[in-house]
Amino acid sequence: MKKKDDSIRQIAFAVLLVFLLTVIAITLQTFLRDEFCASYYGNSSACSPALVGKTFQELTSSPGKGEGIGMVASAKEYPGAEKTSLPEPSFGSTGLGESLENRRSERSFSQDPLSLEELSALLFAAQGTTSESGLRTAPSAGALYPLEVYVIALNIEGLSGAYHYNIGEHALEKISSGDYSSEVSAAALSQTWISGSGCVIVFTAFPERTTSKYGQRAYRYIYTEAGHASQNLLLAATALDLASCPVGAFYDKNVASLLGIKGDSEQVIYLNVVGKKQS
Ligand SMILES: Cc1cc2nc3c(=O)[nH]c(=O)nc-3n(C[C@H](O)[C@H](O)[C@H](O)COP(=O)(O)O)c2cc1C
Repeated sequence: MKKKDDSIRQIAFAVLLVFLLTVIAITLQTFLRDEFCASYYGNSSACSPALVGKTFQELTSSPGKGEGIGMVASAKEYPGAEKTSLPEPSFGSTGLGESLENRRSERSFSQDPLSLEELSALLFAAQGTTSESGLRTAPSAGALYPLEVYVIALNIEGLSGAYHYNIGEHALEKISSGDYSSEVSAAALSQTWISGSGCVIVFTAFPERTTSKYGQRAYRYIYTEAGHASQNLLLAATALDLASCPVGAFYDKNVASLLGIKGDSEQVIYLNVVGKKQS
């Protein structure tokens, strides 16, 4: 009987010990994380993950004096990459009012491939150059243009794999070949409908192009600019009678790895999925 009592006591003690150790580990981890965060931001109340949104608002709340020098607007290039020139963009005859009325997020696509002409119009709408000095279809804070654009071609005439949009030349630079339909849908939280689309157009950003002038406020500008570019693209898709849907649910790292993006100077911001409409 005493032996049985002893074992019950030992089990109870072990359970209590595990419980206490778990509590200590969680407390220590939270403390260290908050200490690090507080020393970084100089503000300990801002450091719980649940407050990230509030912290973001606070740390970016002043307009930024625009007192940094600001980089000369730059754009990424892939020297030596195989290039595909894009045709002149053309948007059909649907008016802006009708496109605004008709735009809807659509997630089913026909098996017909997108044409290069259609892709050309989508990319031009998103970030095409519209002036000698390099100004673009979408506005940009300080004309610093932090965004880069990529295409993951799933079903486009003559293209397959990952491409970078060379904005200045209105051309595609080939990054890699392959059928990325399952990878890209897995990267977007297994939204399987993406696999049947014509392409995924990815917006990334080099925050430093804008933070160099506007400090932390730049992060608001970057996401706002991605919204401008995306809406241009979605309206162009609608005008061309294509199905399209923006996608914010994805793992940044997985999309970056599909595009061969390394390091953290360039960040994945937003995806736009486009394809031919189902008849
Ligand atoms: C920032 C943002 C992220 C979104 N992410 C997704 C997404 O991951 N998957 C998806 O199917 N739709 C996504 N959508 C599309 C919305 O579900 C859609 O816009 C909304 O239901 C309204 O419908 P409408 O676009 O047809 O007007 C997203 C929209 C926005 C603006």
